[in-house]
Amino acid sequence: MFEVEPEMKKRSICVLGASGFVGRHLVNQLVKEGCRLRLIVRHPERHRDLTVWPGVAVVDADVHDPEALKRAFAGCDTVINLIGILNENRKTTFQATHVDLPRKIVQACVAQDVTRLLHMSALNADAAKGPSRYLRSKGKGEDIVHAASAQGLRVTSFRPSVIFGPGDHFFNRFATLLKFAPIVPLACPEARFAPVYVGDVVHAFITALRDKATAGERYDLCGPRGYTLRQLVEYAARVLDIDRIIIGLGDSLSRLMAGIMQFAPGTPLTPDNYLSMQVNSECKEEFPAVFGIQPTAIEAVVPFYLNKRDQRARYYDYRRIAGRD
Ligand SMILES: NC(=O)c1ccc[n+]([C@@H]2O[C@H](COP(=O)([O-])OP(=O)(O)OC[C@H]3O[C@@H](n4cnc5c(N)ncnc54)[C@H](OP(=O)(O)O)[C@@H]3O)[C@@H](O)[C@H]2O)c1
Repeated sequence: MFEVEPEMKKRSICVLGASGFVGRHLVNQLVKEGCRLRLIVRHPERHRDLTVWPGVAVVDADVHDPEALKRAFAGCDTVINLIGILNENRKTTFQATHVDLPRKIVQACVAQDVTRLLHMSALNADAAKGPSRYLRSKGKGEDIVHAASAQGLRVTSFRPSVIFGPGDHFFNRFATLLKFAPIVPLACPEARFAPVYVGDVVHAFITALRDKATAGERYDLCGPRGYTLRQLVEYAARVLDIDRIIIGLGDSLSRLMAGIMQFAPGTPLTPDNYLSMQVNSECKEEFPAVFGIQPTAIEAVVPFYLNKRDQRARYYDYRRIAGRD
C-alpha cells in the first residue's frame, strides 16, 4: 500500500503539452479520474476538441513568458510538463524548450505554491554525456526540475524510449512512408529501441499522482523487449500487409541521409536524430515495480490502429486496448 497524494477528484492540474500525442492520451485518462484540468495551449483554435471534456479549461498562454506562466498556474496544485520537440526550427530551439522552459516552470510553480511537478524527459537524457543536443538538453531540463526539490517542489520525471499507440509519431510515420515508397532506404537500421505503450506511460503518470513515494524519482520507461529499427519497420510493413524492399544504410550513408533529410518537408531525419540513435534506447531495468504493471507489447496494440485510416482510434480507452480491467 502506498502513501497517497490528495484524492484525484480534489486535484487541480495544469497540463503543458496537452495538445500533443501523449498529452491527449493523458488528458483523456485524467478526465476519467475526475481531476480538474487546466490545459495551457498556444493555439486554442486548433484544439477546440479539447474543450468538450468535462472539468477541462483550455487556457491560451505563452508558456515562455514567465509572467503568463505564473498567471496560468494560479490555483493549480500540480503541474504536468509534456512539452518537447524532436527537431529545432526557426521558431524554437532545444535550449528554449527543454532547458529554459523547465526553469521557468519551476519558478512559476514556486511562486504559485504548486507542490507537485511531473516532468517528461527521455531515455538516455544526460546533460553531460548525451550523444546529441536533443538528449543533452533533455538531461539539463531534468536536472533543473529535480533541483527544485530544495524549494519544496515534489518532482517526478519520466524517461521513456520511443512511445507507441494510436496517434503516435513513430509507427504512423513509417506507415505513411511504407505506403508510398516501394523501396525504403533506412538510416541507422541497427539502432535499438524498446517501444513503450502510451497507455503504460499514462498509467505511470497517474500512479505518480497517487503515490507520494514517487517524488524525487526519475523513471526509465520501456516496453517488454528491444528491437532494431529495421525490425520495427519490417513489423509495420507486416501489420500493413504490404511487401516493401527495406535497404539498411551503413553508417556513412546514414549520416549523409540525415544531412539531406533535415531539409525535406516534415524534417524526417536530422544529423541530431542520427546522433541520438548512436545509443541504444533500451532500459537497463524492468518496468519500475512501483507502477504495478507488466508493460504492453507492440503486438498487442499496433495492429489495432496502424492499418486503419481512421485515427479516431487515438481516443480509445487505453486499458481496453491493452486488455486491462
Ligand atoms: N513520443 C515519443 O516517442 C517520445 C519519446 C520520448 C520522450 N518524449 C517526450 O514526451 C513529450 C511528449 O511527446 P509527444 O510525442 O506527445 O510530442 P508531441 O505530440 O509533438 O507534442 C508536443 C507538445 O508540446 C507542445 N509544444 C512543442 N513545442 C512548443 C513550444 N515551443 N511552445 C509551446 N508548446 C510547445 C505542442 O504544442 P502544439 O500542439 O501547439 O504544437 C504539443 O502539445 C515530449 O517532451 C517528448 O520529448 C516523447
